Amino acid sequence: MSDDGFEQILDGFYPYRRTTRSHRVVPAEPIDRAAILAEIAGMSRAEDAQGDSGTVSGSLYCGDHDHYAFLGQVFDLYSHANVLQRDMYPSATKFEAEIIAMTSDLLHGTGVGVVTSGGSESLITALYAYREQARADRGVTAPNVVLPRTAHVALDKGAHWMNIEVRHAPLTDGYLADVAAMEALIDENTIALVGSAANYAHGLIDPIEEIAALAASRGIGMHVDGCLGGLLLPWIERLGYDVPLWDFRVPGVTSISADTHKYGYALKGSSVLLYRSKDLRKHQYFTYPDWPGGLYLSPGLAGSRSGGIIASTWAAMLATGESGYLDAADAIMRTAVTIRAGIREGIPALRVIGDPTFLVAFAAAEPAGGAEPLDIYLVNDSLKAQGWRMNSLQLPPALHFCVTRPNTQDGVAERFLEALRIAVAYAEEHRGEPAESGAMYGFGGTPQGNATLAAVMSGVLDAMHEVAPDTAPDPAPDPAHT
Ligand SMILES: Cc1ncc(COP(=O)(O)O)c(C=O)c1O
Repeated sequence: MSDDGFEQILDGFYPYRRTTRSHRVVPAEPIDRAAILAEIAGMSRAEDAQGDSGTVSGSLYCGDHDHYAFLGQVFDLYSHANVLQRDMYPSATKFEAEIIAMTSDLLHGTGVGVVTSGGSESLITALYAYREQARADRGVTAPNVVLPRTAHVALDKGAHWMNIEVRHAPLTDGYLADVAAMEALIDENTIALVGSAANYAHGLIDPIEEIAALAASRGIGMHVDGCLGGLLLPWIERLGYDVPLWDFRVPGVTSISADTHKYGYALKGSSVLLYRSKDLRKHQYFTYPDWPGGLYLSPGLAGSRSGGIIASTWAAMLATGESGYLDAADAIMRTAVTIRAGIREGIPALRVIGDPTFLVAFAAAEPAGGAEPLDIYLVNDSLKAQGWRMNSLQLPPALHFCVTRPNTQDGVAERFLEALRIAVAYAEEHRGEPAESGAMYGFGGTPQGNATLAAVMSGVLDAMHEVAPDTAPDPAPDPAHT
């Protein structure tokens, strides 16, 4: 690759390296607060612009800067507080317990749960609780968990860390968990079954009643990953949309994760993990009476935690209220329905995957007469060029639009459909050419490809933890010093 090409890649990855100073050491003298704020504000404004315009799938759930400012005020009051010290900060117990109670009420739970830092922590913690339960109650030492292919990958991550075997069940033709296939994977070492409501890739709700009945019949628990849909589906159901039962009303569902930092419209860094019973929850607790540092008791992974997140999550729920959540859900569903119908009825080159609610995944349709389907990643190239940021999927190649509040602005759905038509025409015109987005298309499926891909992916993670390389010949001047 030419030096220019490499410099361009670096600029893409570290866009601020030419306009801000990269700090490799703590500055000798304090930098003026106003200058620091100005520098951050510039980055934040630039980075928010696309999300606020409504052209981004998922990622930003609220989009209301007055709401963020209010949450910022609340955060400010407790940002410095370490809620581990409950004698100093008993308010944390009130906030946390009430977040759990409100979420549990929505999902028809028993009021038992914990607050975690996000969806991944909730899923991994649930997995841990089931592993410990199976070890304590049944002596399971080589645990496995059975989940559909679409279950969130954080479960694979947690299982990898905790030495739990993951048994992936295939999907039905309708892209839902195949319950018979799940049953075939269960053995005496299975610690739990998992289903999603809704899953990340296609926004579909697995047949939770069937999976839960299967789990109950085998004497094991069932976790429902409601990280994405948990704080939206109850409102969608109340609005009269068709939502199959998936929460604690289903016997056999023993735990649910629901992310307050997604459709709860809280700041990033919070999720709720609910259990049907205290007995299951206690398996995630850690107590250690023999430490010189004192009697140690901890509910989950975190040690010190900022009170700001807990207080602002509580405040987000109160300040949104039932009517706020219902209005948001109504606007989100109207937008999603317009997009879903627009693709189904107006863009024959594409097909909507399954029968989704708020998240619409779409792939290339199989054309009649055996012709090659479109390359969906070429469609994404054009959408990107037109300013839209979709989520790219694989297995099968597809894109999804997870509708959130910023997308409910007037005209966004219609503009998206128009952009999608243009993108499909672009993909038709460029058939056979390699797509820029999803460039790994067809590469990840071979064992050798996956090994290479894993090496490249680790390299990207390395790069994400490195200070931007200097620009040649001189690094950028430090605006904070000018
Ligand atoms: C269904 C589902 N589960 C879990 C997660 C993980 O959540 P987090 O990114 O908060 O760790 C996500 C994230 O999008 C999700 O969609």
